[in-house]
Amino acid sequence: MTPSDVKATLSFSDGSPSMDLPIFKGSVGPDVIDIRKLYGQTGKFTYDPGFLSTAACQSKITYIDGDKGELLYRGYPIEQLATKCDFMETCHLLLHGELPNATQKADFTKTVTYHTMVNEQMQFFLRGFRRDAHPMAIMTGLVGGLAAFYHDSTDITNPEHREISAVRLIAKMPTLVAMAYKYSIGQPYIYPKNDLSYAGNFMRMMFATPCEEYVPDDVLVRAMDRIFILHADHEQNASTSTVRLCGSSGTNPFAAIAAGVACLWGPAHGGANEAALNMLEDVNKMGGVEKIGEFIKQVKDKNSNVKLMGFGHRVYKNYDPRAKLMRETCHEVLTAMGKHNDPILKLAMALEKIALEDDYFVSRKLYPNVDFYSGIVQRAIGIPVSLFTAIFALARTVGWIAQLNEMIGDPEYKIGRPRQLFNGAVSRDVKPVGER
Ligand code: SDX
Repeated sequence: MTPSDVKATLSFSDGSPSMDLPIFKGSVGPDVIDIRKLYGQTGKFTYDPGFLSTAACQSKITYIDGDKGELLYRGYPIEQLATKCDFMETCHLLLHGELPNATQKADFTKTVTYHTMVNEQMQFFLRGFRRDAHPMAIMTGLVGGLAAFYHDSTDITNPEHREISAVRLIAKMPTLVAMAYKYSIGQPYIYPKNDLSYAGNFMRMMFATPCEEYVPDDVLVRAMDRIFILHADHEQNASTSTVRLCGSSGTNPFAAIAAGVACLWGPAHGGANEAALNMLEDVNKMGGVEKIGEFIKQVKDKNSNVKLMGFGHRVYKNYDPRAKLMRETCHEVLTAMGKHNDPILKLAMALEKIALEDDYFVSRKLYPNVDFYSGIVQRAIGIPVSLFTAIFALARTVGWIAQLNEMIGDPEYKIGRPRQLFNGAVSRDVKPVGER
C-alpha cells in the first residue's frame, strides 16, 4: 500500500492531545486511514459493528466498485471471465494471480481431476445424517471432517500443505455436494470420471445412475461452469471474513473453509438464492404477476419482516454485474430446454421491473444481486432448491482459499481479535443465594 501525502488529524473537543493518522492508497478504490496506533496513543477504540467503514486487510485478489457495479478478479472484469474463460482458468487466476497458459491450464486441471475422489470412509459420515437433512448441515460436517483424513497437510504455515489442501478442497467439493444430494434421494453415489470437465463431472455425479450411461448436456454444463465462475470470490464478504478470522488462529484449511460454509448458509448471505426462489414460488402460488403489487406492499411494511430476497447488497448500490450475467444464462438455459415461457422467470423479470421503478427500492439503491437469478437457472438445470447454497459454497471454496492463503502469506498478519464497547454491569460482589 502507498502512503498518501495527506494525513488525517484526530482532535478532541476536551483538549486531549490530537493525533495524526497516516492515510494509505490502494491501486484503486477508497483510501484507508491507518488506526493501528489509535488505542495505544488515545486509549480509545473505533466502533463499527457490521464493518461498514472498516478495511480488515489488504488484498490483491478481487475488487468491487459498488457504485459502478464493477467486479474484477485479479483485474479481469467478470463479464470477460464469464464469457472467455472456464472455472479451472478462474481458479488458477484467483489462486496464483494470473490466467494459465495452455500448459499450465492442462497441468492444473489434471491435478484437480486426480483429487476428485474422497476417502471411502466419508460415506459413513453421511449415514449419520437423516435423509432429509439440509445439504448445508451435511456440508458443514463433511468439509470440517476432511481434516481427519489429511494430517499430512494441515500445517497452514507450510506452502506445500496450503497448495495440496487448496487442490483437495477445490477437487472434492463437487464430489461431496453430489454425495449429499444422492444421499437425500436414496440413490447410489456416482464416482468422478477423469475424462470429464470439472462442471461436467459434477453434473454426472449429480444426475447419473449406475443403470445407464449419462452424457452431460453441453449447454447445462456451460451454465454450471458459469455459475461457478460468478460465485468464485467477492472481496471481504461475511463468509470470506469468517474464513480469514478462523484461519488467523493457525487452524487447518479444512476447518477454516468449514467455517465459511457455515456462515454462507445464512439467508442474508449465500442462503439468499434458496430464499429468493422460495419467495418466487410463493408469489407464484399467490397468483403470480397479478399479485406482485400485494407482495411489494408486504415488503415495504417494516412489520411484515418480508424482504425482497435476491435484492440489495452491502457494496453494490447499482446492478450486481453477476446478476446481469446470470439473467442471460437464465434465458440461454430455459430456451435450450424449451422452457422460455417459464412462469417463475417471467415473474422474476416482472418483479425486477417493478422494483427498479419503485421509489422504496430506488431510494435505498436495492438492485438484484447474484442470488436473484441463480436459483432460476439451477432449478431449470434440475438442482433442488435446498442444494443451491451448497453449490454456492462449492464455487466460493476457491475464493475462500485464495483469501486465506493471501492472509497467511502476509508477514503483517496477526490473529484477529476485535475489541468492544462494554456497557454491561460493572464490578459487583456475589451475594449468598439466600440473599439474592
Ligand atoms: C450475497 O457481501 C457480499 O459480497 C455477499 C455476496 C457474495 O458474493 O459473497 O454478494 C453474496 O450474500 C448477496 C446478498 C444476498 N442477500 C439477499 O439477497 C438477502 C436480501 N438482502 C438484504 O438482506 C440486504 O440487502 C443485505 C443483507 C444484502 C444488505 O444489507 P445492508 O447492507 O446491511 O443494508 P440494510 O439491511 O441496512 O438495508 C438498507 C435498507 C433498510 O431499510 P431502512 O431501514 O433504510 O428503511 O434497505 C432495506 C432495509 O430494510 N432493505 C431491503 C432489502 N435489503 C435491504 N428491503 C427489502 N428487501 C430487501 N432485500
